[in-house]
Amino acid sequence: MQWGSLVALALVAPYASALLRFPCSQLVTQRFDPLVTPGVVSPHVHQIIGGNAFNISMDPSLDLPALSTCTTCKFKEDFSNYWTAVLFFKHPNGSFIRVPQMANQAVGSPNGGMTVYYIQPQSGEKVTAFKKGFRMITGDPMIRSKTVDKNSFAAHTSTFRCWDANFSGDGSQYEPGAGLDTIDLPKKKCNGGIRSNIYFPSCWDGKNLDTPNHNDHVTYPTGALDSAGSLFFAPGSCPSTHPVRLPLIFTETVWDTRSFNSMWPSDGSQPFVFSMGDPTGYGQHGDYLFGWKDDSLQKAMDTCTDVGGNPTSCRALTTQSDAEMNRCNQAPRVNEITEGKYLSALPGCNPVQNGPNPATMIPSCDAISTTGGAPAPTAPVPITTPAPIPTPSPPAPTQPPPTPANPDAPMQTHYGQCGGQGYNGPTQCQAPYTCKAQNQWYSQCT
Ligand SMILES: *[C@@H]1O[C@H](CO)[C@@H](O)[C@H](O)[C@H]1NC(C)=O
Ligand SMILES: *[C@@H]1O[C@H](CO)[C@@H](O)[C@H](O)[C@H]1NC(C)=O
Ligand SMILES: *[C@@H]1O[C@H](CO)[C@@H](O)[C@H](O)[C@H]1NC(C)=O
Repeated sequence: MQWGSLVALALVAPYASALLRFPCSQLVTQRFDPLVTPGVVSPHVHQIIGGNAFNISMDPSLDLPALSTCTTCKFKEDFSNYWTAVLFFKHPNGSFIRVPQMANQAVGSPNGGMTVYYIQPQSGEKVTAFKKGFRMITGDPMIRSKTVDKNSFAAHTSTFRCWDANFSGDGSQYEPGAGLDTIDLPKKKCNGGIRSNIYFPSCWDGKNLDTPNHNDHVTYPTGALDSAGSLFFAPGSCPSTHPVRLPLIFTETVWDTRSFNSMWPSDGSQPFVFSMGDPTGYGQHGDYLFGWKDDSLQKAMDTCTDVGGNPTSCRALTTQSDAEMNRCNQAPRVNEITEGKYLSALPGCNPVQNGPNPATMIPSCDAISTTGGAPAPTAPVPITTPAPIPTPSPPAPTQPPPTPANPDAPMQTHYGQCGGQGYNGPTQCQAPYTCKAQNQWYSQCT
């Protein structure tokens, strides 16, 4: 394995910090999101990595290392789950096919998946590992533009790199998010695929393992980006509202777009679209559910100081082979086809919405899903038990309550969507169900 390129990368910056960098292969790709839509089929497709205790709902009390029998991650101690949206190619004839993923630069031969980093601050400040039950998200699948300052942290939490062949090309010497990386999907053909770079918040309030929007308990450090323009080595510190410094979780996903470069539309517009109907890339998002065994992550943070992040140089942890990682997987449990052939529409109800306004949910979705409340049109969804909202703190309302009863208004059925940012379908529930906010963009009749 060539970790040298990573070390070289570290040396570009005027400082270096200890980090772990390791591959996790694909566990499953399907419409599940136990954090945002627990107990029901998610509105859009995700690719998921990590421990095989992953499920349609994941109560924070679950003991993931005990429930898992394997993990797709290089470190045997990591039974966490991580997931992001998946990318589709939109053929000029209007059909969609999932873009395959490929192994990242210098990680061996995982089956797709992601490369995960746990980065320590270059200041040498000690980090506190996540607690059991901790979870968070970064990004917002509904957005289609970012109006923030291009040099801000907020602009750089999710970026894209347009690779040339063999992970080369302009800007490849810079940290992810710096150089020529863009905050929207590349507008030109990328000869070596497209890499998605996602930085999670690394400051915690020290109290809540989760919050209703899965984001308020964490935040990004204050201060400037690093000298190259990335969060990777950013020197900032945590604000007083979120004083506990966490490891900076960073993930990379490489989409093998190469075979589609000969099929671009004649007007030259870029043909890739994320699973939530996002052709801009601004809606890319990441979810994290902590699941390291015992205090293994804290031990690794305390003792593993390789600036290149080579997994085998971290003696506090145990590695497994790529073959073992690739053997760990789950069969998709939503009865629909999401990959391997051209589809007439994106799975779920995700028409392509260009923005710049936030996307809206489709009120009468009849996909195998609960987003529109209709019964599944083909095979039933395997599991539809609603799960409690996984929040240790009292839920705060994240949106105005539904409008008062109007007998003529359309009624949503059990488990159907009844509100949320950008949603304009029925907001009243059939008796005896009531509309409950799950997060800022999703309320449900339960
Ligand atoms: C997922 O949850 C269902 C119950 O909702 C359970 O029957 C099943 O065994 C779980 N699967 C895993 C992999 O834990
Ligand atoms: C679009 O083209 C692809 C690739 O040739 C093909 O498989 C698919 O069926 C076509 N879709 C339509 C609607 O013609
Ligand atoms: C990429 O690597 C392959 C295998 O080493 C090599 O054959 C090919 O010429 C390289 N392409 C470029 C553009 O460097």
